[in-house]
Amino acid sequence: MKTSVAVVVIALISTLGTSALPTDHGCSASQDNIQTRALTGPNGEPYIPGQFFDRFFMIIGENMDFWPVEAQSTFSNLWKQAPNGRLLGNYYAVTHPSQPNYFAHIAATTFGWNSDSVTNITGSESFTIVDLLEEKGISWAGYAEDYPITQGCYIPYAPEDANGTQVPHSYVRKHFPFVSFESIYTNETRCNNLYNAEMFWKHLKENKLPQFVYFTPNLLNDGHDTNASFFASYIQETWIDTFYYNDYFNARALNYISLDESGNTTGFNTVPGDNNNHIYAALWGGTLTNRGTYDKYDFNRYNHSSITATLEMNWWGETGLLGRNDTYAPCFAVPNDGAN
Ligand SMILES: *[C@@H]1O[C@H](CO)[C@@H](O)[C@H](O)[C@H]1NC(C)=O
Ligand SMILES: *[C@@H]1O[C@H](CO)[C@@H](O)[C@H](O)[C@H]1NC(C)=O
Ligand SMILES: *[C@@H]1O[C@H](CO)[C@@H](O)[C@H](O)[C@H]1NC(C)=O
Ligand SMILES: *[C@@H]1O[C@H](CO)[C@@H](O)[C@H](O)[C@H]1NC(C)=O
Ligand SMILES: *[C@@H]1O[C@H](CO)[C@@H](O)[C@H](O)[C@H]1NC(C)=O
Ligand SMILES: *[C@@H]1O[C@H](CO)[C@@H](O)[C@H](O)[C@H]1NC(C)=O
Ligand SMILES: *[C@@H]1O[C@H](CO)[C@@H](O)[C@H](O)[C@H]1NC(C)=O
Repeated sequence: MKTSVAVVVIALISTLGTSALPTDHGCSASQDNIQTRALTGPNGEPYIPGQFFDRFFMIIGENMDFWPVEAQSTFSNLWKQAPNGRLLGNYYAVTHPSQPNYFAHIAATTFGWNSDSVTNITGSESFTIVDLLEEKGISWAGYAEDYPITQGCYIPYAPEDANGTQVPHSYVRKHFPFVSFESIYTNETRCNNLYNAEMFWKHLKENKLPQFVYFTPNLLNDGHDTNASFFASYIQETWIDTFYYNDYFNARALNYISLDESGNTTGFNTVPGDNNNHIYAALWGGTLTNRGTYDKYDFNRYNHSSITATLEMNWWGETGLLGRNDTYAPCFAVPNDGAN
């Protein structure tokens, strides 16, 4: 008797654990709609259509709490004025310091890592969203400002001047996760999807952006060596025209901007969970539908693992394909939060 009750309870828990979260959050998909056949993009390049979007773009700022960012008019306007913009008002980074947050963007875990120093993630741990995308023929690229090479894997921590001194305010490896994963840095084909940011602007102009675009600004522009107002000016001057008015950029796209982690690390890890790591995050783009004001805000609790969960739901119709926190983190409510 006791045994059978326990079995039922365990079965119930595992059912809830595997299926309840994503559908609760409006991001549910049917595997019946999953496409495997490539279509042809505006420039003749093949792409795999997703259920909700055909491109995911992400750009990351550095080390600021929610309010100092939202208080900048660039950021409070962005989710109000960008096409189908939406504020993710309850979005949390996953740890401190920077580097493991960037790992989580593509791997759905920090690997328990808590440092910015150079590390290699090897063996089966180096399985990331890139493996999933590649398997399905979905194009991807990482672009970094001041990346010291035009294309390929640049392995060092940061560029150095002739004296061996780190070039200030430039590119740093800890903000560009791809080069830390063995499955990428040992593979020339994959390395060739990593570019200096100038190539982003070239690809955009040529309507040749890949389907998963990861953009890392340099240490000045992302606010790391500066502040929220500098980050805001950078976004305003460099990006807003593209974000608001570029039809190619927004068509069938889900675009994302956020920070890697909060600025205030006081009290971190003294309370279980992601306490004190609340950061600004916004989505916009052609894939979203806002049914009035209600959908301009989304207060579901998301974190960095929601990115891989969302990509999986879009292209595979299920989450958890990395077998990490992409199983538990809710995917973003696309096209809108089904509940009303
Ligand atoms: C990481 O891998 C690269 C490329 O194989 C190697 O040059 C570097 O020494 C490794 N770094 C660490 C910290 O193991
Ligand atoms: C070497 O470092 C010194 C002191 O920081 C600096 O003044 C000088 O410009 C550097 N030289 C080169 C070649 O980078
Ligand atoms: C390198 O990556 C490409 C693209 O994913 C893949 O087709 C190829 O098998 C990989 N090569 C090795 C040696 O893993
Ligand atoms: C932000 O940084 C910029 C340039 O780094 C500086 O000019 C400005 O005074 C800073 N603003 C605040 C509020 O600290
Ligand atoms: C930083 O976080 C701590 C702990 O939550 C809080 O007491 C403090 O007020 C915060 N400081 C700022 C500047 O927000
Ligand atoms: C989830 O992420 C945490 C780090 O926040 C990590 O310690 C844990 O191992 C991850 N869980 C899974 C199943 O990957
Ligand atoms: C993200 O959120 C999920 C769901 O609450 C949680 O399981 C996970 O530990 C969080 N952290 C990471 C790194 O995914």
